Amino acid sequence: MLEEIKQTADYILSKISENELPKTAIILGTGLGELVDHIEITTSIPYTEIPNFPVSTVEGHKGRLIFGKLGNKRILAMQGRFHYYEGYSMQQVTFPVRVMKAIGIKTLFVSNAAGGMNPKFVIGDLMIITDHINLFPEHPLHGKNYNELGPRFPEMSEPYSKRLIEDAENVAKENNIHIVKGVYVGTQGPTYETPSEYRYFRIIGGDAVGMSTVPEVIVARHGGMEVFGISVITDVGGDECEMTLKVSHEEVQKAAAAAEPKMTFIMKELINKFKE
Ligand code: HPA
Repeated sequence: MLEEIKQTADYILSKISENELPKTAIILGTGLGELVDHIEITTSIPYTEIPNFPVSTVEGHKGRLIFGKLGNKRILAMQGRFHYYEGYSMQQVTFPVRVMKAIGIKTLFVSNAAGGMNPKFVIGDLMIITDHINLFPEHPLHGKNYNELGPRFPEMSEPYSKRLIEDAENVAKENNIHIVKGVYVGTQGPTYETPSEYRYFRIIGGDAVGMSTVPEVIVARHGGMEVFGISVITDVGGDECEMTLKVSHEEVQKAAAAAEPKMTFIMKELINKFKE
């Protein structure tokens, strides 16, 4: 694994100039790729050209690494992520985060689409992720630990950076954007939730549920990166919510697209403002 990470990092570094090197990266979720339009792109590398990179298959994902400037920050954007439900191993799902760390990324921003089960949430809300519950059937750190990458037993008391959450709340307040905060439950999918699963996720302390993010965040924290995440609530369920009837991928994409400008704005402002 260490050899593969190094090979991929070296390949990427050979494609960019030294002054393009970012300390900040962002992973864009389903239907949330628009932020890329705000990046002054200097280099774009399709996943298909990157050694050891899996290839993204899900509809709506273009699958490329983008280097450029977002506001005043150098940035690396992953347009399209690898989901466990696509058949990738946890090591494959999180490989790009390992590579990010190897090229010097210190802070990771993530976005995703999620189903809400907090009764106060409505479709189109933006939820700042304050914590997560890992319900994936496999752990991304399962197996041999490489001390070069991080500790055997990483502590997880602050998976999502408190100072970045505070910064994001300030950006929202200053710009009159309604945001909510909550706990993201990560599940393997690809089925959306049954009514009882929604009830269960609420009982165990979840506010929203989705099929990504948790593996990447675990690996980012393992490597000592600071993390910030936002979920766009694209459907709702559970006893206390009027469940979205028959959630579909198209509906999720549509709801994500509708809320995307708000999400893009907050991410852009936050990335511009935060202290790297
Ligand atoms: N469940 C799981 N993943 C999702 C959902 C959902 O309701 N909405 C968007 N991604």
